Amino acid sequence: MYKVANRRQLAPSIVLFEVEAPEVAQKVEPGQFVIVRTDEKGERIPLTVMDFDRTKGTITIVVQDVGYSSAIINQMTERSAFLDFIGPLGVPTEIENYGTVVCIGGGLGIAPIYPIARALKEVGNQVVAVLGSRSADLLILEEEMRAVSHEVVIATNDGSAGVQGFVTDGLAYILNQGKTINAVWAIGPVVMMKAVAEFTKPLGIKTIVSMNPVMVDGTGMCGACRVSIGSETKFACVDGPEFDGHLVDFDLAMQRLSYFKDEENRARARLQCNHEGGHH
Ligand SMILES: Cc1cc2nc3c(=O)[nH]c(=O)nc-3n(C[C@H](O)[C@H](O)[C@H](O)COP(=O)(O)OP(=O)(O)OC[C@H]3O[C@@H](n4cnc5c(N)ncnc54)[C@H](O)[C@@H]3O)c2cc1C
Ligand code: FES
Repeated sequence: MYKVANRRQLAPSIVLFEVEAPEVAQKVEPGQFVIVRTDEKGERIPLTVMDFDRTKGTITIVVQDVGYSSAIINQMTERSAFLDFIGPLGVPTEIENYGTVVCIGGGLGIAPIYPIARALKEVGNQVVAVLGSRSADLLILEEEMRAVSHEVVIATNDGSAGVQGFVTDGLAYILNQGKTINAVWAIGPVVMMKAVAEFTKPLGIKTIVSMNPVMVDGTGMCGACRVSIGSETKFACVDGPEFDGHLVDFDLAMQRLSYFKDEENRARARLQCNHEGGHH
């Protein structure tokens, strides 16, 4: 069992959990994720690692209540424990000294961008963070992001914090300051990542996005998480979740997400996975 050591409500439907998972904490790197299960009847839920403490042996995750399983997780308390906490999964972020990097987090995407920004700063990059949310009360982890960035630009749709607009307006604001941007990381809703990639492509700025398709096994067996990158089909769970934003077929990714919004289709994918994968 993987005990909850700490629980903190970040916004009305967003909760941060620090979980005791020493084996995962030893190996995990920024950009990776875990697949958790609350109990034997629970679904397998992929969640990005927001933070880790190798000494304490803990992993921090941030969960937004969007449906049945995430609601169950967010009801967990400091006395609860996860049955499964599998990871680290996925390919770690390529941390190098690029020069000036912009780390964009939209909504819940601020949580996974946090360890990436910190690692990029640690190796000497000039880190500018752009944090976007619908309104000020939904903006999470602002203080934490300030601690790992040289500059923070906030954009809210309603203008209740920072500049009014989208994260791309934040990006334009940075470029208008005359800064040269060497690389961009963007994590958030697919539409947001698409907008960022379209903004940076003509400027030739390397842009990495993190894809969150529906995942079932998380081991590259079932194909549920396939994404189209350039002309190739990739599996987000083993080839990603980070990909070159200029090569991602975002429209297909959005179509697939809406297909899986239907519970029946997800159940079908799960069955198919059990059948093809021959495990579980
Ligand atoms: C690599 C990766 C990292 C993620 N990181 C986080 C994170 O850090 N924090 C967080 O709150 N959420 C994260 N998610 C999304 C999270 O897994 C889903 O919100 C969760 O599975 C929803 O389950 P549900 O039963 O609560 O909702 P449901 O009602 O079942 O579904 C709501 C929506 O969640 C998505 N979803 C459902 N099942 C899955 C699944 N098995 N895999 C992926 N998406 C699914 C679909 O878009 C669906 O429309 C991540 C997803 C992936 C693939
Ligand atoms: S979840 Fe990636 S192949 Fe099954």
